[in-house]
Amino acid sequence: VEWRGGAPFVVTPTTPIVATGAEARRIGRGLAALIGNTVDTTPQIVEAATEPAIALRIDPGAGHGPEGYALEVAASGVEVVASAPAGLFYGVQTLRQLLPARVEYGAALFRPLPIPAVRIADAPRFAWRGMMLDVARHFFGVPDVERVIDLMALHKLNRLHLHLSDDQGWRIEVPGRPELTRVGGRTQVGGGPGGFYTTEEYAGLVAYAAERFITVVPEIDLPGHTNAALASIPELNCDGRARAPYTGTNVGFSAVCVGTPATDAFVADVVAALAAFPGDMIHLGGDEVKELSAAEFATFVEGAQRVVEATGRTFVGWDDVSAAALTPGAVVQVWRPQVPAVARRVAQAVAEGASVVLSPSDRIYLDIKYDADTVLGLTWAGLNGVRDAYDWDPAALLAGVPEAAVLGVEGPLWAETLSTVSDIEFMSFPRLAGVAEIGWTPQTARSWTGYRARLGAFGPRWAALGVSFYRSPEVDWAPDGVE
Ligand code: ACM
Repeated sequence: VEWRGGAPFVVTPTTPIVATGAEARRIGRGLAALIGNTVDTTPQIVEAATEPAIALRIDPGAGHGPEGYALEVAASGVEVVASAPAGLFYGVQTLRQLLPARVEYGAALFRPLPIPAVRIADAPRFAWRGMMLDVARHFFGVPDVERVIDLMALHKLNRLHLHLSDDQGWRIEVPGRPELTRVGGRTQVGGGPGGFYTTEEYAGLVAYAAERFITVVPEIDLPGHTNAALASIPELNCDGRARAPYTGTNVGFSAVCVGTPATDAFVADVVAALAAFPGDMIHLGGDEVKELSAAEFATFVEGAQRVVEATGRTFVGWDDVSAAALTPGAVVQVWRPQVPAVARRVAQAVAEGASVVLSPSDRIYLDIKYDADTVLGLTWAGLNGVRDAYDWDPAALLAGVPEAAVLGVEGPLWAETLSTVSDIEFMSFPRLAGVAEIGWTPQTARSWTGYRARLGAFGPRWAALGVSFYRSPEVDWAPDGVE
């Protein structure tokens, strides 16, 4: 970032957006919708302009990589240049953050809108910058998930991991298996009505995310965390008897019967259902299985991995799967780096060719309470304050796991205690912004002091968006209001 001083660029009611090509024009329309709030004030998208304009350019030869961009703001014009559409989208998100926070209000607002003169060259440190949403413990409908996707996009996050099944609920249709949603889709923690995504709704979410350069990583948790499936399909149980639905919050008590034709057919159907949607990864959980022997667990994971890989997708599992033999290229999501035996197994898996996504539960589990007074959330991993969530280096978390093996970072949000989108927002923000910055910014350019100041300045933007963020006392929050 190079602050140039001098006069800002000023967006007026006649400022056009210059963009050519379908993707640049589509990204331009997103910016126009932000800057304009009525038909009369929404900027025109044009091919060329003589007056001061905001130019959005995709130039495959520009050398910014798949997600990088360059942004120049001067009094005479704004230009965002990227090598690929994702980079242009991220450049526009940065431009958005340079505009006054009041652009985020849906209500009518006044012009002009100043953008400070600056030169920025930017690209992410890690390819995987994610959030996980648990829609199984409590179900969140399509509008709630779209809200999460919108907020992820503002923070340049690019992976939404959906935890689509657990003991308390099954949340996605599987062709030929209507009982999964008819039975398993009707429960949730505390006994509420639950819910599930139809194939069309889920496809819509995947597309909504893709328009914002976010890839959905679907997770069906197996072989444990499966009571909803065991209640729906009797043959998945070794005794052939359906389990009762479960709406409590215990873990570790359920597992499918390993090595039976019924379970193998079930896994094949589930993986085929997930592989029918656009995407590159399939997450099959693997965590907290206490009801199987070590041999049964390894047999299951190794078989499930083969089923996923046969579809051309990459297999992802929680760090528990490092107890099985993983193929090179598998992705291990690390949630217990603080447990020495887990850390050793993960390092071994990396030595054998696995990559990792880092979700340390004592840092960036977003459902862990911020402090002792947080009303929502859990405490089994301690307390994850705003600084704790930010102030660590992915390359230094695990011995034997160098930066090259780290795909990126992801903040999981488990929903045992969360039932509304406001609850999601309260636990996610500000900590998810920290995850985004860890994922994007080189370690040498990060510091708690600098981040803390920038977070404080970001508060009015969340407020304008109606985000129920936690005004942690660790941060000096700028006052809300229209500047
Ligand atoms: C987990 O928190 N059980 C992955």
